[in-house]
Amino acid sequence: MIGSEVAVYFAERGWRVHGVDNNQRAVFFGPQGDTRENQRRLAMQLGNSFRHVELDIRDRQGVRQLLGAVKPDAIVHAAAQPSHDRAAAIPFDDFETNAVGTLNLLEAARGVCPESPFVYMSTNKVYGDRPNNLPLIELKTRWEYADPHDAMGIAEDFPVDQSKHSLFGASKLAADVMVQEYGRYFGMPTCCLRGGCLTGPHHAGVELHGFLSYLVRCNVEGREYRVIGYQGKQVRDNIHAFDVARFMDAFVAAPRTGEVYNLGGGRANSCSILEAFALVERHSLKPQVHTYVKEPRVGDHICYISNLLKMRDHFPSWDITVSLEETIKQLVQAAQSRAMPHVL
Ligand SMILES: NC(=O)c1ccc[n+]([C@@H]2O[C@H](COP(=O)([O-])OP(=O)(O)OC[C@H]3O[C@@H](n4cnc5c(N)ncnc54)[C@H](O)[C@@H]3O)[C@@H](O)[C@H]2O)c1
Repeated sequence: MIGSEVAVYFAERGWRVHGVDNNQRAVFFGPQGDTRENQRRLAMQLGNSFRHVELDIRDRQGVRQLLGAVKPDAIVHAAAQPSHDRAAAIPFDDFETNAVGTLNLLEAARGVCPESPFVYMSTNKVYGDRPNNLPLIELKTRWEYADPHDAMGIAEDFPVDQSKHSLFGASKLAADVMVQEYGRYFGMPTCCLRGGCLTGPHHAGVELHGFLSYLVRCNVEGREYRVIGYQGKQVRDNIHAFDVARFMDAFVAAPRTGEVYNLGGGRANSCSILEAFALVERHSLKPQVHTYVKEPRVGDHICYISNLLKMRDHFPSWDITVSLEETIKQLVQAAQSRAMPHVL
């Protein structure tokens, strides 16, 4: 999802994009996670500005050869096993993709193009379940931080260890620290973007990953959405992939070394699952069918809002431009057009 959005964003601004993907998402999540449609769309939409590269980032030699041939001016690394829950069933695939795959890319970049900005899509799961230790209050439709000092959300100096991460959070944290290290130790222009919920109309949302996209899909197709724990009042902040790409662009234009940013939608783009139901229903005009599972997901955040102050401070020209309302509108339209053949 992010990779394809970034490809479009940069290609439309004059870059030639080499998009690496081996459709591993379909292996991780089955046919619902298939990314080939996105790949075809990119080829049609971007023409000569885009080249698809069928490569597994676990293939160290292949990664080295690709970077040696292309010598990229910038690298955006958004390939991953991205699911919290899936990782426990496939620990080696998870770690080898997320941690070792990232090391393969970093080491190849150090050998070939150490001056090129290297942007890594990390995750807020690097903080483990520690955000759940913050005092919270239960409101009618959401959990909320009880202490006004926490109101702006989680900042980048929040502790990352001695908490439960899930194997996914641990493999992403390993990669995150490595990306920082290639900045601090080798002086490379690297950064980690610790994403909240990133989404956009091309998200192939599945139950295990891509909450808003999946929720919208369930609504539009009249399928049951399982609310898992915390009364459906757990809060996520949502950022549109376009604003993710805009931040990457700002970093590539004025890179820093070994940086970390909490890249989310911030308070204005936050919602609980119950609030998301209401928003989606308003746009789709269909009631959300749902059931409730009492046991929460292991390590699930009860209330997570990204503090955007550091990003705004380092890159004053960047800010959120796509509201939650607009994002949901786009997700509903995309889900409706995907569902149309079944309706007809
Ligand atoms: N979407 C979110 O809400 C979210 C939140 C926080 C962080 N992130 C991070 O952002 C990045 C992108 O997430 P996304 O939502 O676009 O996920 P995605 O699953 O849509 O995209 C990941 C892509 O990587 C590819 N891939 C997986 N393993 C690969 C391998 N070994 N070699 C080559 N390609 C491989 C997949 O086929 C897929 O196309 C990930 O690092 C993820 O952890 C995403």
